[in-house]
Amino acid sequence: MCGIVGYIGNKQVLPILMHGLRDLEYRGYDSAGVAVLDNGKISRIREVGKVDKLAKKVDGEKLPGNIGIAHTRWATHGGVTEFNAHPHIVDGKLAVVHNGIIENYRELKAKLKNPKLESETDTEVLAHWIYQHYKGDLVEAVRKSLLEVRGTYGLVVMHVDHPKQLVAARLGSPLAIGIGEGEYYIASDVTPMLPYTKQVTFLDDGEVASINGDGLKIVNLRDEIINKTVTEIDWDQETAQKGGFENFMLKEIFDQPVVFEDAIRGRLDMEEGTAILGGINLKQNQLKGIKRILILAEGTAMHAGLIGKNAFERLANLPTEIDFSSEFRYRDPVIGEDTLAFALSQSGETADTLMAIREAKRKGAVVRGIINVVGSTIAREAGAGTYIHAGPELAVASTKAFTNMVAVLLLYALEFGRFKFTSVATGKKMQQALLEIPEKMNEVLKRNKEIKAIAEKYKTYANILFIGRGVNYPVALEGALKLKEISYIHAEGLAGGALKHGPLALVSKDVPVVAICTQNQLYEKMKSNIQEVKARGARVLVIASEGDEEIKEIADDVIYVPKTMELLEPLLNTIPLQLFAYHIAVALGRDVDRPRNLAKSVTVE
Ligand code: F6R
Repeated sequence: MCGIVGYIGNKQVLPILMHGLRDLEYRGYDSAGVAVLDNGKISRIREVGKVDKLAKKVDGEKLPGNIGIAHTRWATHGGVTEFNAHPHIVDGKLAVVHNGIIENYRELKAKLKNPKLESETDTEVLAHWIYQHYKGDLVEAVRKSLLEVRGTYGLVVMHVDHPKQLVAARLGSPLAIGIGEGEYYIASDVTPMLPYTKQVTFLDDGEVASINGDGLKIVNLRDEIINKTVTEIDWDQETAQKGGFENFMLKEIFDQPVVFEDAIRGRLDMEEGTAILGGINLKQNQLKGIKRILILAEGTAMHAGLIGKNAFERLANLPTEIDFSSEFRYRDPVIGEDTLAFALSQSGETADTLMAIREAKRKGAVVRGIINVVGSTIAREAGAGTYIHAGPELAVASTKAFTNMVAVLLLYALEFGRFKFTSVATGKKMQQALLEIPEKMNEVLKRNKEIKAIAEKYKTYANILFIGRGVNYPVALEGALKLKEISYIHAEGLAGGALKHGPLALVSKDVPVVAICTQNQLYEKMKSNIQEVKARGARVLVIASEGDEEIKEIADDVIYVPKTMELLEPLLNTIPLQLFAYHIAVALGRDVDRPRNLAKSVTVE
């Protein structure tokens, strides 16, 4: 996720772009840049860090002009450096800002006639690719070049030969165009344009817009004219940033189908039924030497890691251990060169996890990161690894980073599994199941209202237990963590089988139980656990597989989820629990985005 702004009209463009960047900073904040076209020349200023730092650099500079583009970056390809910041410029003539991921950028790069690239980004390759297609018509250059592009983009292009034109295109990454009096605003969401106009049209996938002072023309990639409707926006600034959602947590829960696609995009080898995660950076013989996996994490990341453990053991037959990073470094863990240690972290800044990987390295383990924030401390210290591409997560309670961590761990398990253990048929079956996940996530999200109504019934309890078995045990842990951190209701996640060894004593009519009981190999065992708590008078909410009518006999409330492969179930089963926690917290009047006592990155031990 990055933020894009563009303007063409009669006003001085620089203040509009800078203002827009501040509004969009929530979409990315590792570096930012502006480019303005004036008198046949593009001037550009870029800076690493937040928009404030760019503003300081821009301050003394005079960048007059009425047309320009700007970008605030959330790195996906390439580290956080000024060279990698947008706008990217080719030959001093064409400037591009881009939000998304160009999946086949290596392929495009190989086709460039003059690939004098100064950054490591997929966007710069795209800029050169468009430049190579330019024959005097900027829209044609963009349209034709996009025919061969795979991936996602929201992009805006500016060219010195067209001082009164911006060209924008979209596939998968949002772009809105605000229509003023003889002027146009383009941005990743409507926030930057709200002070100037409420008349907005939204680009749809596969559309290319030519925007100039005289008008707006939109075509599709086949060059057919598209007639768009203009919408009157009545959102305020804050609502717009949250995409119309009440707060960031809800937005991020609803982001999951889209960002999940980003996590798996370009990482499946459909021929071989495997995954390709370049970031592991180990030769085949080194990979074969790995005999154990160790996952180091905290909190939600730890729960994702537990799901990864299941997958590594089942698919790759690799003994996998998972440890709280805060505990690991104070034990005397037995690890060696045959251990591959993953640091699993959304922020990439968690002090405990950072210390733990230092310890693992010292003991000779191969260390890799599975991280969301590109260029973060753990990502840099790990040296290699894989980004989960969840985009900025602003709510303190982690949601979309969880599902994307699980996605990447599943891909690793598949890749390792296909080296020795898993058949191509199983690999292909899993790939198919992964590709179906976004649609199934959407089906779960459609139950939001229903889940809200159920949450109402549970909001007054002081204690709630969550139970699950097998792949759904970590889901129970995560459901309980979400509830306690944002609603302040005491909750515990338990393995269904562990109930009778102690916690059953807690169960009564005053302590409801949330049971994750989808139809997998442990279904019957879970049902017995539900019977155990029912017999003690507990109210039971069950997360069940679609079509399971029988479960209604023992459940007080049911939330249905679509069926999928057992290993993938947590990707769907966690979402109703995120929504359940969210609605309880809202009903109790909690500040869901900023719960008390908690911070988004825990950079102290
Ligand atoms: C829970 C939550 C925390 C984090 C934990 C690790 O919603 O956000 O439990 O998961 O602090 O943080 P990262 O993943 O940044 O290392």
